[in-house]
Order: sequence, then structure tokens, then C-alpha cells
Amino acid sequence: MMKSEQSEVRRLVVLGTGGTIAGRAASAGDNLGYTAGEVGVADLLAGIGAPSGVTLVAEQVAQLDSKDMSFDVWHQLAQRCMHWSNVPDVIGIVITHGTDTLEETAFFLHSVLPAEKPVALTCAMRPASALAPDGPQNVRDAIAVAATAGARGVTVVCAGTIHSAIDVQKVHTYRLDAFASGDAGPLGYVEEGAVRRLRDWPGALDANAGTAGLDAAIKLKVISTDVEWPRVEIIMSHAGATGAVIDALMAHGAEDAAGPVRGLILAATGNGTLHHAIEAAAARAHAAGIEIRRATRCVNGRILPRGDDTWPDAGGLSPVKARIALMLELMLASPPVSA
Ligand code: SIN
Repeated sequence: MMKSEQSEVRRLVVLGTGGTIAGRAASAGDNLGYTAGEVGVADLLAGIGAPSGVTLVAEQVAQLDSKDMSFDVWHQLAQRCMHWSNVPDVIGIVITHGTDTLEETAFFLHSVLPAEKPVALTCAMRPASALAPDGPQNVRDAIAVAATAGARGVTVVCAGTIHSAIDVQKVHTYRLDAFASGDAGPLGYVEEGAVRRLRDWPGALDANAGTAGLDAAIKLKVISTDVEWPRVEIIMSHAGATGAVIDALMAHGAEDAAGPVRGLILAATGNGTLHHAIEAAAARAHAAGIEIRRATRCVNGRILPRGDDTWPDAGGLSPVKARIALMLELMLASPPVSA
């Protein structure tokens, strides 16, 4: 190696947010009765070697069970990702995260961050205290992804599989390989520290309904200012549904601490169909100025337009991701004003 190469510093930042990967149980045999978000991110890196020529930097951004993920933590996370991506010697970022809302955080970051540097989220299904924890290998694999030359965009790395933030969904409650990418399939695999890619890295040009129209200035504002998040609720269409929840939100939403509802995601059956009672209540809400989107309850596939659809669909986004897209879209419609 030449002298100039030897002295070149390359850092890879690992941001900790908690989750089962940082969980601790009273006994090593207990994979369920643990508390998430107990072990610090620096400790999670103990014994995990960095790729040659790379120094790992650990930073604790939050320490929580991701079921309790908040806009505040998303905001801090986006800020730290933005900060570190702008540091020239930082080649990539890994985020340790709980599995339960991992796909939401990944999609949010995908929607607001520039895609130039890789951000690889990873997780575990067993706590750090387990007899055979899966976290250390997942962290190693995520580091390998973030350190791969040419890697970019937001990915999720779990059980040796790389998923794009757009397609990934948690699909299993217990197995170590708990994530899938639906019809799109995984982006690739990590095998003994080497990435085997099946398709291109996610980029800023990926079509994702709602967020593709966000311009860079709005993204930066979402990251750098104390934005107000428009309230968007998810309503599930199902057998025997009524419009009561939508009507209650319209009647009383403004009194809630979360503020008035500005958008509804209708988690629709099959190819975007809705129970007639949900459809009627949504029409009343729309007449009162509420934005409506349909997202399918199906795990695979996307809503295909029929020509007579009343409400726009969220493309292939799941209801939870469609919600994030609509929140960002509403911010675009009335940009945040706070400095
Ligand atoms: C969490 O999402 O923080 C807890 C569950 C998990 O990480 O598997």
C-alpha cells in the first residue's frame, strides 16, 4: 500500500437507537422476556472487527424499544445521518434499531436523506444477552454493506440479506430471518463479509409515491428544523367495518394532543377496495378537506388502477409507509415555518 493510502482515514459511523439487538434478559436462555434498548452501541461493537483501513465510530442517538419510535427520534437520527454524511472521511453509516418499526425508520430516512452515502439499518430478533444472539453477525454484515465501494442509499440488513428501504417489511414474529422485500425481492446478500448484489442500490430516483415529489429544500427543512408533523391516521377496511372511527376523528380530532387529522391512509382490501361504510365516511372526511390515500393490506403486490377509483393509491407502499409519504407530502403542501 502506498504511503498516501496508508495515512488515509476512513471512518464508518454506527448510530445506536436501542431495540432487541441492544436488549437484555435475566437469563441467556430467554429470547422473549427481555427489555429492549439496554446495551450501549459501543458495547454492541465489542469484538466486531472493522474492515481493513476503516475505523468504527459509535454514537448513541436513542435507547428505546422501537414500538415507541417517535418523530423526535426520527428527527435526531436524520440530523446525525446528515451530519456524518457530510464529513468527507466518513464512508457510510450503520444504524442499530429494533425490528418492529425498522421499515418505517428506513423509509423515512430514504425519503429525506440524499442517497450518495450508504445508510444500512440493522437489528436482531434475539437480545444481546441470548445464548446465540443474531445481533453481532447482523452488525458485521451491515458494516460490510456500508463499507462496500459504490454502496449508496438506505438499506436494511438482516440475516445475511440486504433489503431496500422501499420494499422491506417485517414478515415474521420470531424467526431470525424476519424481513422480506415482497415481489421486488432482496437487493442482495452478505456472504462472509462480501456483498453479492442482485439489483442496483436504492437511489434518489426510485419511484415512491408521495416522496418522489419532495424537493431537496423541503427534505433539508424536515431534517434541520423543528417541523410539525401533519397528523395522518391509518384506518383498516375489514369485514363488518363501520365509518365510526373516521367520523370520531373528524368530530373530536382537533381536541387531541396530536392535533387535527390532515390525512387518512385507508388500509384497503386486495387491489385497493374498501368497505362501503369506510368509503362513505372517507368521502365525508374528504369533503371536509382531509387528504385520502389507499394502500393495500396485502403483503405482496401493488394496487393496480381500475379507472373508476375514488381515491389515489399509494403505489406499492404498505399502509405504514404510505402514512410517512403522505405526512411528507402534506409538509410539502404547507412547508414547515419554524426555524
Ligand atoms: C424493538 O423493535 O425495539 C423490539 C423488538 C425487536 O427489536 O425485535
